[in-house]
Amino acid sequence: MKKILVTGGTGFIGSHTVVELQQVGFEVIVVDNLSNSSIDVLDNITRITGIRPTFEEFDLSDRKKTAEFFSRNKNIDGIIHFAAFKAVGESMEKPVEYYQNNVVSLLNILENMKENGIRDLVFSSSCTVYGQPDELPVTEKAPIKQAWSPYGNTKQMCEEILRFSTVSLPIRSIALRYFNPIGAHESALIGELPLGVPNNLVPFITQTAIGLRKTLNVFGNDYDTPDGTAIRDYIHVVDIAKAHVIAIQRMIGEKGKSKLEIFNLGTGNGTSVLEVIHSFERVSGEKLNYSIVPRRPGDVEKVWADTRFANEELGWKAELSLDEMMASAWKWEKALAPRK
Ligand code: UFG
Repeated sequence: MKKILVTGGTGFIGSHTVVELQQVGFEVIVVDNLSNSSIDVLDNITRITGIRPTFEEFDLSDRKKTAEFFSRNKNIDGIIHFAAFKAVGESMEKPVEYYQNNVVSLLNILENMKENGIRDLVFSSSCTVYGQPDELPVTEKAPIKQAWSPYGNTKQMCEEILRFSTVSLPIRSIALRYFNPIGAHESALIGELPLGVPNNLVPFITQTAIGLRKTLNVFGNDYDTPDGTAIRDYIHVVDIAKAHVIAIQRMIGEKGKSKLEIFNLGTGNGTSVLEVIHSFERVSGEKLNYSIVPRRPGDVEKVWADTRFANEELGWKAELSLDEMMASAWKWEKALAPRK
């Protein structure tokens, strides 16, 4: 049985990926510092799969602890690295913390891969590296624009670190550029757990509908889009998780064609904020309280993925619809309600 280290494995995308890995027979070891997740996630993963992943709590930006971890765990076959800070707005307030956490943890992992003969690494990247693309849908070949936030810049820097590291070191990597991951596992046992007031659209919608927030603010209806609201490529978190399984299998199976490969993970469909709200209202039967307010600084107008490279090269395609994404997010919010 191949053993995969999942960093950030109690987080939103990490936890769904642990489930998918276990369900196809991988052994999983999770490392997380629980800075933005809960230890209970491990119980819920175990409820879904019947297998409890091994867990260690520490911070991967701690060089000594990371080295000690790898010296105790010599039999790791591949790594999926999610652990990172991910809030665009917060990164503007705390740039140093973002660089420290996101960049240093990758460096520590790479250093120990080299030391311990671990070759394969899947890295969590983001469509934020494109900024506002000149052409849509955006392909992986589109130019990387100057970052709009320290968060986005850490993703760009980490991709560059991987580009050079995979040239001269025995390291193979796949960077996956996520568009907008939403939804939750169909069991409603795991999902997104935003601390405090959510920044992202879908948790804000479900929290408003359940009564935790009064009104959803729709940031801008004067964009150059059909209904004036901004467009994104929303993708179900389980589809994203499945792409990680394929990526790690591709590398472990020696099928990768180059040392660093980069793939967009989206559906290829652009959806406006109002369309997301309408989908939510349709599947939940709830009427959402929302109002239009000015644009949020830093938001791009529209972005959606060209998915052909991932579809053809990985043999992966997002399968779940927007309504399925919203229905699962709503089921998750309702499952959370008694715990609040
Ligand atoms: N939005 C609202 N009201 C809200 C929250 C969001 O109208 O309360 C709108 C935003 O303005 C945007 C859309 O909903 O048009 C999606 O916003 P999110 O915050 O959910 O997602 P973003 O596209 O801003 O950000 C996501 C990830 C980032 C990543 C970025 C890349 O959260 O990590 O995509 O574009 F960097």
